[in-house]
Amino acid sequence: MNRFTDKVVIVTGAASGFGTAIAVKFAGEGANVVVADLDMEGARSVAAELPGALAIEIDVSDEHQTIAMIDATVAAFGKIDVMCCNAGVPHRGSYMTRMNVDDFDRMWAINVRSIFLATKYCVPHMAQGSSIISTASIGGKRPRPGLTPYNASKAAVIALTRGMAVELAPRIRANCVCPVSAATNFDLQAMGTQDLDEAMEKKVIDGIPMGRRATPEDVADAYAFLASEEAKFLTGVALDVDGGRSIQ
Ligand SMILES: NC(=O)c1ccc[n+]([C@@H]2O[C@H](COP(=O)([O-])OP(=O)(O)OC[C@H]3O[C@@H](n4cnc5c(N)ncnc54)[C@H](O)[C@@H]3O)[C@@H](O)[C@H]2O)c1
Repeated sequence: MNRFTDKVVIVTGAASGFGTAIAVKFAGEGANVVVADLDMEGARSVAAELPGALAIEIDVSDEHQTIAMIDATVAAFGKIDVMCCNAGVPHRGSYMTRMNVDDFDRMWAINVRSIFLATKYCVPHMAQGSSIISTASIGGKRPRPGLTPYNASKAAVIALTRGMAVELAPRIRANCVCPVSAATNFDLQAMGTQDLDEAMEKKVIDGIPMGRRATPEDVADAYAFLASEEAKFLTGVALDVDGGRSIQ
């Protein structure tokens, strides 16, 4: 399939995990992709593998850096068709009252403020049929103890998406994806470990009816679908990519 020929797609958090898979998916279907990340070395190495891609260093919580990312994209490609707000951080799983206030503020700025900023500054460059897609989490719908502030930030992503869908219609669609646990750097950070031991892995998988964790490609496929013509009437959707996890 080549659903995104001549489309311009920005992906934040694209140096690793879901973001890399999203960038690869859009580039593989013909898009010019902006690989945006705090980790410039990682962004450069992902972009080097993708035809027509541009690497940009950004802290997504920063207003001036967001404006610079949007300006650099428009200078390079003339427009923005899909804004993928994927960058996000967990915090070490622990009960909320033990969390440090600065860590809370930083996490909230990266997970929530970033979507407000990206939307505010990319919308003026978006034409009819464009879309904004964000990475929420199944924890935003079905929170469990231990990651409460993080889950609340992802509930905020879902609420932002639904409000944006109405405010930006009919020109621009806004949707988000809600993945279940996947084996990325993020997940190991959240668990506070370098590697999941067998017992932890089994506990996670036992809670997922489809019998496995999400992969970055599962998330990238959902992004591509939401950005595509096939989803032209979908807006305000928070699409579960969770193998049925949230049902039980
Ligand atoms: N992995 C999971 O289990 C899981 C589940 C549900 C949702 N999510 C969400 O998926 C998204 C991607 O996570 P991932 O699993 O691919 O993790 P990851 O750690 O592999 O990738 C995150 C990327 O974001 C970048 N990043 C971090 N802070 C940034 C900042 N301030 N500005 C710009 N870039 C920044 C990192 O450098 C990294 O390249 C996040 O929003 C996360 O909350 C992850």
